Amino acid sequence: MYYSDEVLRQVREANDIVSVVGEYVTLNRRGVNHFGLCPFHGEKTPSFSVNEREQFFYCFGCHQGGNVITFIQKMENLDFIESVKFLAERAHIQLPEAEVSPEEKRRAERKTRMYQAAADTARFYYYQLTRSPAGANALSYLQNRQVGETYRKKFGLGYSPISRNALSAYLRKKGYQEEELIAAGLLSGKPGNTYDRFFNRLMFPIFDAQGRVIAFGGRVMGQGEPKYLNSSDSEIFNKRRNLYGLSLAKRTRRGYLLMVEGYMDVLSLHQAGFDNAVASLGTALTMEQANLMKRYTDMVVLCYDSDQAGTNAARRGIPILEKAGLQVKVIQVPSGKDPDEFIKTNGAEAFEEVIKSGMDPIDFEMLVLQRQNGQEIEGQIRTVKDMAQRLSEIDSDVERELRIRDVARKMNTSESALAQEVESIRQNTGLLEYQSSQRETRSRERESLDNRMDAAMQLLTVLIKKPEIYPKIRDVLEIEDFSGEDEVTKGAAGYVFQALSEGRSVTLSDLFTQLSSEEEQSRFSRLYAFELPESKEDLGKFLTQTIRSLKQKRIDAMAASDETDVLLKMLQLKKELSTLAIKL
Ligand code: GTP
Ligand code: MN
Repeated sequence: MYYSDEVLRQVREANDIVSVVGEYVTLNRRGVNHFGLCPFHGEKTPSFSVNEREQFFYCFGCHQGGNVITFIQKMENLDFIESVKFLAERAHIQLPEAEVSPEEKRRAERKTRMYQAAADTARFYYYQLTRSPAGANALSYLQNRQVGETYRKKFGLGYSPISRNALSAYLRKKGYQEEELIAAGLLSGKPGNTYDRFFNRLMFPIFDAQGRVIAFGGRVMGQGEPKYLNSSDSEIFNKRRNLYGLSLAKRTRRGYLLMVEGYMDVLSLHQAGFDNAVASLGTALTMEQANLMKRYTDMVVLCYDSDQAGTNAARRGIPILEKAGLQVKVIQVPSGKDPDEFIKTNGAEAFEEVIKSGMDPIDFEMLVLQRQNGQEIEGQIRTVKDMAQRLSEIDSDVERELRIRDVARKMNTSESALAQEVESIRQNTGLLEYQSSQRETRSRERESLDNRMDAAMQLLTVLIKKPEIYPKIRDVLEIEDFSGEDEVTKGAAGYVFQALSEGRSVTLSDLFTQLSSEEEQSRFSRLYAFELPESKEDLGKFLTQTIRSLKQKRIDAMAASDETDVLLKMLQLKKELSTLAIKL
């Protein structure tokens, strides 16, 4: 689906990237760039930059980059067209109807139908629960579990009837294709022989962050296996990238998200006034989910069961959340209950107290180790040593020192002894060296990044960043020199040449509208980070070198030809190449 270049240009020009990004990220000017903390990965020092002239952002840490439309796509989790609409609205621009390629149109329509089918399915289950006699059991199950009408509706709960083709018949009558319903995970089987995936279960619709139904979790009522059956992944549902309850929880005013294990826990917490509860969808917490939460909050309180499995899940989840730049607190619900059971027995206020008692990850680790190692003297030694290990991994000297003091106090050991233990681990494991080698690898990565840009990309960088050079190389560089390159590079070169020959300059942001795949975009983002030689003399040499290698590639390709014209032209180019030199 696309808008004309003209429309896209209007939208981009009306939405200055510095001010749009500034609405999400605190930016500080440093030279020609504005810098801030990258919203797409967790970091403590800013490597996210925005350039006003190029109307482009680029993160030197995670290498994501793009124009203002790309930024909104990533930030608001929207597709291209949705982002254009978002920005048009922001700038009060009236958009014409979008033009659509047939393939894109087909795919978009298919997805739209899948969303509709999922929503219709939720309506069907809801109706079965509330209006059909068959739902009576499920209703009384909910009553027993003290789920009230308001929250039952808010979460759109339903019931999947005992028949194996009730939903299937209903949806087909509505005109959906069997194949699409199978692909959307709503029906099982093959076209011509489909049956309902969910059968006599209490149904929890799963919504994405925007509030669209994308899948279902179904619970058996009473005993039975599996206890929960979930939709499998589909074109509209990825369980690693969504969180149960997020569409509601993202509006909380509590200032943090409460991460729990089960659907029932989320429901019952919301009902008890904890409108910030979310759960993962039957898998361990993923990096995608952590990043998703980071869009809405800076702090996550982990609330997993206090059994071994729940404790392990919390210990695995902590580094994932921290990597996303989230502050983490851990709570364990007393006496082996899950939040749902706890609230039913002790009430919401008692749960509020549990949250207040939230531990930071280091204290949590200490608690777990103490439990594991016991209070005997050997156990205590083990715990101190394990804690020293954990403390030795803290990068910041200030934080490490403060943590050591705190842990020593809590464990009744001397601060200097613990500090010594930590320091010796850091020496032994070579953590110090490791960190500096990491730093080296990173700068080497940056270099090889530059090296990996071939001559064609380097030349495009010059033409975009220094369009005033164009007249100086116009006579020696022609668009055909790019003929040995891949289609995307050729396209980009054509676009840049066209503009320059008409006396217009091209920004990276402009170029980006010509690139469709994420792979192309990520390749061209790197132009941003490529630093050109500063002096005229060096830039001249650089240009000579890159134009030569570009032409050489073209010549090599021509040499394979058996047409005389081509070969003659090749010889001529070869001769020109030997004398080519750019002076600025
Ligand atoms: P209740 O027993 O109804 O209170 O459910 P719960 O929400 O407390 O669930 P539980 O603690 O047993 O499990 C937590 C989460 O793990 C559930 O919400 C599901 O997402 C998932 N889960 C539990 N049992 C199963 C299962 O049998 N299969 C699958 N795929 N997921 C399950
Ligand atoms: Mn439960």
